[in-house]
Amino acid sequence: MMMTSHPLSEPNHPLPHPGAAKPPTDLLRTDTAILRRPPGLRTHFRASAPLLHVTSGLIPPRGGGWAPSTDRRKKCSSLVLSKLKKLRSMEAKRRIGIVGFGHVGHYLAQKILEEGEKSGLELAFVWNRTMKKMDGVIDPRLQLHRLSEFQTRQVDLIVEVAHPDITRDYGEHFLSAANVMIGSPTVLSDPDIESRLRETATTSGHTLYVPSGALWGGEDIQRMADRGTLKGLRITMTKHPDSLQLKGELAQKNQSVDGRTILYEGPVRGLCPVAPNNVNTMAAACMAAHTLGFDGVIGVLVADPRIPDWHLVDIEVTGTKNKETGQVFSVTTKRCNPAEVGRVTGSATFLSFWSSLLGCTGHGGRVYLC
Ligand SMILES: NC(=O)c1ccc[n+]([C@@H]2O[C@H](COP(=O)([O-])OP(=O)(O)OC[C@H]3O[C@@H](n4cnc5c(N)ncnc54)[C@H](O)[C@@H]3O)[C@@H](O)[C@H]2O)c1
Repeated sequence: MMMTSHPLSEPNHPLPHPGAAKPPTDLLRTDTAILRRPPGLRTHFRASAPLLHVTSGLIPPRGGGWAPSTDRRKKCSSLVLSKLKKLRSMEAKRRIGIVGFGHVGHYLAQKILEEGEKSGLELAFVWNRTMKKMDGVIDPRLQLHRLSEFQTRQVDLIVEVAHPDITRDYGEHFLSAANVMIGSPTVLSDPDIESRLRETATTSGHTLYVPSGALWGGEDIQRMADRGTLKGLRITMTKHPDSLQLKGELAQKNQSVDGRTILYEGPVRGLCPVAPNNVNTMAAACMAAHTLGFDGVIGVLVADPRIPDWHLVDIEVTGTKNKETGQVFSVTTKRCNPAEVGRVTGSATFLSFWSSLLGCTGHGGRVYLC
């Protein structure tokens, strides 16, 4: 989806849709009352004694004959205000926009509708290239017809679960307005896109989340990279040929697979553009293993017709060598994820995405593995 002049340069729209976030008016009113009535502070304290008790631990004496000093009044009112602000931010739901209504998008939208309330989440919109796919499943008021109008829905988090092209075309716009979780991090193999997104995260203060997805042990890998002890990382992904959506030579090779076949072996950077939907796990690993990156992490893509309903991920981590003994630290994991025939996403990965989404609460202007 190439865009020449970007419609996002239009002025922001107001918030006409029915599901727009409303501030908790009762708290606002209390705030305003405090702000507007400094001389009547004592009266207000009486009226709000339970609130004051909860928020500051201060209890007025019996009979209400309490006349705090000016300093004390100021101190109390600022304390109450800050506690109210905290309460208000705790009460506000995080509004989530889902981009892509395939298997993962459908699952996440459904999960927010069913369990969002208790997790403090609210569905702000769902967009899909083919709107028809949402018919009878997503309330029309929650369907977003034009992705360029995402700002009309006042989102806190945008979740891309469609294709890396979405982040290529809209990533910076999304990130300027909200936190973003990219389900297709293969897009970051393009160094220009990666650096532009990093820059936008820094300037906007919003977080670019990379979900661990099918990557096992991502945090450990990241820690080793942080400490400078990560020396090598090799990831082998094995899937049935029908679960692979490949481009160019690799696609041709995949069509003639007869038995377990290594389609690609080399730096992940070269694999992402030709297998954008299938090696997101490798891309997430490159972000975790930031000292090796897309050029240093080795990816191996295997097609195996004998495993129609499994996605296998083998991770081999190499650490430092003990100078005295010559022993080398290493970790090997094998993830065997049941998967429906022909699917790009294995079943356990759905829950992994949900857990990641729950953790996207805002971590400042940076890239964050979640
Ligand atoms: N990070 C990971 O570990 C991980 C794991 C599994 C899936 N994924 C990725 O998450 C995304 C969603 O996975 P899924 O299982 O729901 O896939 P899916 O094929 O079921 O759904 C993809 C959806 O995106 C839409 N789409 C496809 N190409 C598009 C394009 N170029 N522009 C706009 N929309 C497009 C399709 O219409 C479909 O609705 C995929 O990119 C997949 O590779 C990542």
